[in-house]
Amino acid sequence: MKTNELTRRRTFGIISHPDAGKTTLTEKLLLFGGAIHTAGAVKKNKIRKAATSDFMEIEKQRGISVATSVMGFEYNGYKVNILDTPGHKDFAEDTYRTLTAVDSVILVIDCAKGVEEQTRKLMNVCRMRNTPVIVFINKLDREGRNPFELLDELERELGIHTRPLTWPIGIGPQFQGVYNLFEQQLELFSPNKTTVPEDVLSIDDLASPLLDEHLGPASAAQLREDVHLIESAFESFDEGHYREGYLAPVFFGSAINNFGVKELLDTFVAIAPPPQPRETATRMVDPAEEAFSGFVFKIHANLDPNHRDRIAFCRVCSGRFERNTFYYHTRLDKELRFTNPTSFMANEKSIIEEAWPGDVVGLYDTGNFKIGDTLTAGEVLHFKGIPRFSPEIFRQVVNRNPFKSKQLDKGIRQLTDEGVAQLLIRDHGTAKIIGAVGELQFEVIQFRLLHEYGAQCDFQPMNVYKAFWFTSADDRQLERFLSLQNHHIAFDKDTLPVFLAEGTWSLRAAQEMFPEIDFHLTSEFKADPDAVQSIGQWGKS
Ligand code: G4P
Repeated sequence: MKTNELTRRRTFGIISHPDAGKTTLTEKLLLFGGAIHTAGAVKKNKIRKAATSDFMEIEKQRGISVATSVMGFEYNGYKVNILDTPGHKDFAEDTYRTLTAVDSVILVIDCAKGVEEQTRKLMNVCRMRNTPVIVFINKLDREGRNPFELLDELERELGIHTRPLTWPIGIGPQFQGVYNLFEQQLELFSPNKTTVPEDVLSIDDLASPLLDEHLGPASAAQLREDVHLIESAFESFDEGHYREGYLAPVFFGSAINNFGVKELLDTFVAIAPPPQPRETATRMVDPAEEAFSGFVFKIHANLDPNHRDRIAFCRVCSGRFERNTFYYHTRLDKELRFTNPTSFMANEKSIIEEAWPGDVVGLYDTGNFKIGDTLTAGEVLHFKGIPRFSPEIFRQVVNRNPFKSKQLDKGIRQLTDEGVAQLLIRDHGTAKIIGAVGELQFEVIQFRLLHEYGAQCDFQPMNVYKAFWFTSADDRQLERFLSLQNHHIAFDKDTLPVFLAEGTWSLRAAQEMFPEIDFHLTSEFKADPDAVQSIGQWGKS
């Protein structure tokens, strides 16, 4: 294993509530990395709120999102891989799964809005694996909230400690720039202009008259006061704490004005973790191991009926992936070879010869893959940490054409294997329930069943609030629970039972009656000890 190939990789995701500036920031990072040369080159990978029922429009946009699924670029000797995440909330499960394939995240916050609904949900997912987080507070060129108040809200609502590394001077029309607490530099802001060296002033001492000269006495005094408060109220920045997911360094800037982005990127490559070890059902896999291993975290289907192929996105976890080499598909117990493995970058795809841990390879697939599948050089391994999450909307499938029930079954199975939505089964397989995060998925399924499988179905609403996986050391309680709650139990794809709770009250009732049973909002219980405590947050949709 070439150690350098490993240590120079940074694989991360940018997450935000829609409109906070994720697309803009992605684009600026790509400009710095030379991956694109003009602004506007990255199409918005977000499904506009207005386009709720225009299915082809959605698919067009999903098509764009394939091209921008992974954007890799070189920067100062680092290989940076940005894994794109859909902004639209109905595709949140795609985003959650993508977060299982990153080593760290950058969280973008709108300075006027602070923590929003999607911010909370995405951070809940990050916390499951203690993913290190860097926060970028964006849109400082617009009126926004007091920065101390914002940090307080981040800490309170997201349960993470923060440490500002830059500090804004003024906000909105009065925004003058940021003070870099780490480098002790003043970075002056001018709209629509990249910071040039003359805009950056080194300040040896906060008492320096340079501050008054460039900011005016009032702003200089305010900055001194703020820095004093920061130094006394926040713990000093500790890289180890950041890597443990305990402490989030915070930057302030304006993505659209390309302000604060370079500082963010420079710090990011310096402190963000390289590819990390990954847990399998049997052992930890170290990225430095010689033998290749990886897992599939996303599958994208080609909707063109003449090209029914799919692309499976595989995150390399260890060793070196090579083109035209046989790899072992552990679930199917089958060797597969990939002649055209692909990398994606800002609307361009190219065939790759090799890939290293942290890289994502696009594999053309004719139906071999499910989300969570593992590929290895021969060893039987199953990567963990790619859980299913409780859906938020549940509907029962009603077949509209009895002559096509086989096609319907096959379609539902394949679409749910792709991760479009989740399939839950009841009554020995005769009742099928589709669970999804958003309404759009039901449209997607109906459309694709008809166009790809010739099957038609309706969806019957169900009175279900959340699905809980459950465990207990007490087998007798489990048995009693299963038989008493028979009408509220379904089975997931791995035949694990789930409890379909009608509301928080029915969960509470079950918890009171069966105190030895633990309920979980994801299918991987160990990683999710706080699941039920965080119901309130997951439930606020
Ligand atoms: P998203 O991917 O998180 O959904 O956000 P996106 O980057 O699309 O940004 C949302 C809107 O916020 C865009 O405006 C974008 O131009 C604007 N924006 C991003 N960064 C900044 C910033 O630093 N300052 C200000 N003032 N605005 C910013 P839009 O009008 O919705 O879209 P567009 O027409 O500009 O594309």
